[in-house]
Amino acid sequence: MIGAWRHLLRALHLKTLSLWTPKTCFSLNVMGPLPEHYLTPTFSEKGLELHPVSHTRKVNAAAQRQLGLLWHTSSVFFHPLIHEYAEKLSALLPEPLKVVFLVNSGSEANDLAMLMARAHSDSTDIISFRGAYHGCSPYTLGLTNVGIYKMDLPHGMGCQPTMCPDIFRGPWGGSHCRDSPVQTIRKCSCAPGPTEGEGGTWDCCQAKDQYIEQFKDTLSTSVAKSIAGFFAEPIQGVNGVVQYPKGFLKEAFELVRERGGVCIADEVQTGFGRLGSHFWGFQTHDVLPDIVTMAKGIGNGFPMAAVVTTPEIAKSLTKHLLHFNTFGGNPMACAIGSAVLEVIKEENLQENSQEVGTYMLLKLAKLRDEFEIVGDVRGKGLMIGIEMVKDKNLLRCTRLSPSEKDVKACGDILPLNQTLNW
Ligand SMILES: Cc1ncc(COP(=O)(O)O)c(C=O)c1O
Repeated sequence: MIGAWRHLLRALHLKTLSLWTPKTCFSLNVMGPLPEHYLTPTFSEKGLELHPVSHTRKVNAAAQRQLGLLWHTSSVFFHPLIHEYAEKLSALLPEPLKVVFLVNSGSEANDLAMLMARAHSDSTDIISFRGAYHGCSPYTLGLTNVGIYKMDLPHGMGCQPTMCPDIFRGPWGGSHCRDSPVQTIRKCSCAPGPTEGEGGTWDCCQAKDQYIEQFKDTLSTSVAKSIAGFFAEPIQGVNGVVQYPKGFLKEAFELVRERGGVCIADEVQTGFGRLGSHFWGFQTHDVLPDIVTMAKGIGNGFPMAAVVTTPEIAKSLTKHLLHFNTFGGNPMACAIGSAVLEVIKEENLQENSQEVGTYMLLKLAKLRDEFEIVGDVRGKGLMIGIEMVKDKNLLRCTRLSPSEKDVKACGDILPLNQTLNW
């Protein structure tokens, strides 16, 4: 384990204070003078992924400039910066995703998306994956299916978990399922599908078919005939960079729409070019959601978030609610958000994410091949996970028990979610 850990640090050009990484594990305590973009909580147990553009001067300058002009107007007062930002953001999304609601955190964005889904469908039930993290507000806690966030108080009514199609740890998975330069060590008899960029659909993945059966099972046993919607992160962040089989989301979205539900992509971790090949994670699954939620990277650490949806869904919401938000869309947030989008474009950070992320994934895959303890390396662009295991020859690898972990504070899945200008 220690050998693998040292190699990992060397591969990432990092030195730590000790092999026992810091208790809080927000960062690996990188020693010595830090390049400015290391000053971010990037190596994180929970995949905080706050800073796509690190401490870029342009973003700081935009914040300081706006601080000297006008900090705050609530969204009932129209300020040119809100319009400018909404235009810029919506231009990055395909039709008909053009109506932007600005709020302050990812949980708040998902709360609003839940309400929209229910208002539009006139139904209540919402499905999300086991292992999903969508927030910690009383409403979104129902969508979040991570054990440590569950509690014995009533919360999150009307939410139903479904099996996460985890192709490394779940019951099914093979050697071609993943949209990543690195596949699992599991073998399957499926033919390799079209490679990335070549287009075409993926309809020959047995693992995907099995997981879709499970999804159908949830639809037929655990929710009402009409449902409000389905939430999915394009890649699960907090659960350890878990990727689904190619084609799964496409089929699941069709099944949800057949039940009258809307499909929500939670891009809080995957958006803004992090996955390299595309700006939004949903694009990597070749699907078009009805609602997209975003936070974290949107403001490079400044508290802001957004929900983008279609005019029809926005209208359905307004039938039920006069949406108002004191801080959402304040001029500071809009100035910062605009600067973040400009930096991502000017510095080609999406392309950088693709190039550097692919390089890292391939290097890390070599560690997996060399060391028994490294069970899986996965991800896309600069959203990368490394899973430590007890015995990788077991089909369903056993995770390390706490006493066996050298990297105790980090747990056994190490997400590497770097700034995009790494
Ligand atoms: C995928 C995802 N959705 C939603 C949230 C909640 O965001 P916030 O902490 O800003 O409320 C998080 C936070 O980690 C997240 O990772």
